[in-house]
Amino acid sequence: MSKPQHWLGISGSLRQASCNTGLLRAVAEQLPEGVTFELANLAEVPFFNADLSNRPAAVQTLFDQFARADALVLACPEYNYSLAPALKNAIDWASRYPDNALLNGKPVAICGAGGGMGTSRAQYHLRQVCVYVNLLPLQKPEVFCSAFAGGFDAQGNVVDSKIKGNLDAMAKALHAWVLRLG
Ligand SMILES: Cc1cc2nc3c(=O)[nH]c(=O)nc-3n(C[C@H](O)[C@H](O)[C@H](O)COP(=O)(O)O)c2cc1C
Repeated sequence: MSKPQHWLGISGSLRQASCNTGLLRAVAEQLPEGVTFELANLAEVPFFNADLSNRPAAVQTLFDQFARADALVLACPEYNYSLAPALKNAIDWASRYPDNALLNGKPVAICGAGGGMGTSRAQYHLRQVCVYVNLLPLQKPEVFCSAFAGGFDAQGNVVDSKIKGNLDAMAKALHAWVLRLG
């Protein structure tokens, strides 16, 4: 059996019935063997402000989660053709940690649920952000889901077997990606 892996899921949507957070719950329900998973809560994370010299409690919690994660699973809503500010803000905070130690070289899987383009435009912006902070995203599979085609229930849970299958393929590929990167 391969070394255990711990993954951190981060959703860029703060709303209770978020489809993007639903994608992460679906990932957590069908993890590859040997993988554990926790979900970040960005609701209390303030906008990054370099004047906040005492690290806010929610930011410290997030940092602790980043530190113990072998990999990230990012659920990326699309707001006005780009990634949602809560997700960018979480990355911005983490990027200010000394030596970029929370992000540098960390494997990442990206998925998203939104309108007709399935958040693809936002995901490509997120991939650009990954370049500077040296997060290492999986290239394939790309997971672009419609939030408006019956794939989710009213609570944001995934009900569509094709979406579940795509997430399963992504999780298997992330597991292999973590092993490959060592
Ligand atoms: C401010 C804002 C901007 C949005 N812009 C886009 C967009 O550019 N493309 C898109 O596909 N959906 C857009 N949407 C719709 C979101 O895809 C939709 O609200 C989705 O359900 C959000 O994800 P969630 O269910 O995880 O909250 C936008 C929604 C908001 C609130």
